[in-house]
Amino acid sequence: MTANNGRAASRHVVTNEGAAAEGKRKGTARLRPQYAHYAHITGWGMAVPERVLANAELSRLVDTSDEWIVTRTGIKQRRIAEGKETSTTLAVEAAQRALEMADVLPEDVDMIVVATCTPEYAFPPTACLVQEAIGAERAAAFDVSAACTGFIAALGIASEAVRCGSVGAALVIGTETLSKVTNWQDRGTCILFGDGAGAVVVQGSDVPGGVMSYLLRSDGSGGNLLSLPSIGAVRAPGVTGRLDHTIDMNGREVFRFATRAMASITREAVAVAGLTMEDISLIIPHQANRRIIEAAARGLELPDEKFYMNVERYGNTSAASIPLALCEAVAEGRVRPNDRLVFVGFGGGLTWGAIAVHWDVTTPPEVSRWRHLGRQTRIGFSRVRSLGRRVLRRVEGVFFGSQAAEVEPPHRGGKK
Ligand code: UT7
Repeated sequence: MTANNGRAASRHVVTNEGAAAEGKRKGTARLRPQYAHYAHITGWGMAVPERVLANAELSRLVDTSDEWIVTRTGIKQRRIAEGKETSTTLAVEAAQRALEMADVLPEDVDMIVVATCTPEYAFPPTACLVQEAIGAERAAAFDVSAACTGFIAALGIASEAVRCGSVGAALVIGTETLSKVTNWQDRGTCILFGDGAGAVVVQGSDVPGGVMSYLLRSDGSGGNLLSLPSIGAVRAPGVTGRLDHTIDMNGREVFRFATRAMASITREAVAVAGLTMEDISLIIPHQANRRIIEAAARGLELPDEKFYMNVERYGNTSAASIPLALCEAVAEGRVRPNDRLVFVGFGGGLTWGAIAVHWDVTTPPEVSRWRHLGRQTRIGFSRVRSLGRRVLRRVEGVFFGSQAAEVEPPHRGGKK
């Protein structure tokens, strides 16, 4: 596994001394979240598989060429999960990096939202597997399914929860292993997709900034243009056995929809945030195709440089693409304190959405070695605790004859 992040975080910390004191008096000493006017991104992290699949290799699988793929999509290579790598293991890795950067301990995470269309299980949600793996003991955890718009939806939900005060710190993750649902004989789709994960930490603050607007749209009439059948799919009479879980797409139609949707929703999100396009320093779009992004730039009458692109390195990683691009944009110095950004996504559903962000993030104090070690120890403890719970359930099953205890639980998400 590899990952790279610019090291930075925020001065925004949700503090509520009054509530803490009140909690102590009532015997609930934990610092409780409180109503916060603003929801800031305070940490971010990414994880991608090590295995690189270059266009040249694909041209040995299907009738295509590096030249065609680069000209039509801008993609040069993508990452492919191997062995025990799953959407969960990538999510766990990205989440741990984001938490470390924000200097938030897993036990202080109140909510985990995972956007993915390639979960290992319909349930438990991937977010629960992450919750266990990182030891976020008291976090709510659930998945969001909105295809490539998933990260926008997840970040919007988490930001609202932070602002209304029920959540002090939220972990928002986009993670995918699309290579597992790719038809490697279909040259119209297999050249596009890749695997990876990106995560952000969102915290409440009274310092103005952070997520400024959040818009989502959908059009189910276009659902057939981009689809991935799942467990509940209707099957032809008499057809049994494993379902073909692979992506089906009408590329041209999706292309047309995407260019229109990206430009219009970006404009709207900027206006709702009370900004003008001139205020926007950088747009971080869903990385599906360089030509789609360039067409959106033309639609918005903006130069291509206003759009961050890393599609050439990772291909389309669906819900993971925006947080992956954010991590790399920060690491490359393309995002600076006080910048106004737009995250914009589109995908299956059809769905599309955008978020305007005031990036009010300053360099953090270095996280000390001791704190780092403390974090690792806590994660270790939480794994032991979780194992203990499983053993206890089995013992209870033996004594009380519960059949449920005989069922093998899903394997652990985290590798470490
Ligand atoms: O997250 C959202 C997910 N999806 C997307 O964003 C996809 C949006 N669509 C696209 O990115 C583009 O439509 C594609 C990259 C999928 C295709 O590019 P295009 O410029 O729209 O090509 P096309 O489908 O119009 O096909 C042009 C030609 C066809 O041949 P003919 O009929 O003109 O003889 C295709 O059969 O290119 C052929 N073709 C290929 N040739 C070489 C299609 N795929 C390939 C390929 N290599 N991989």
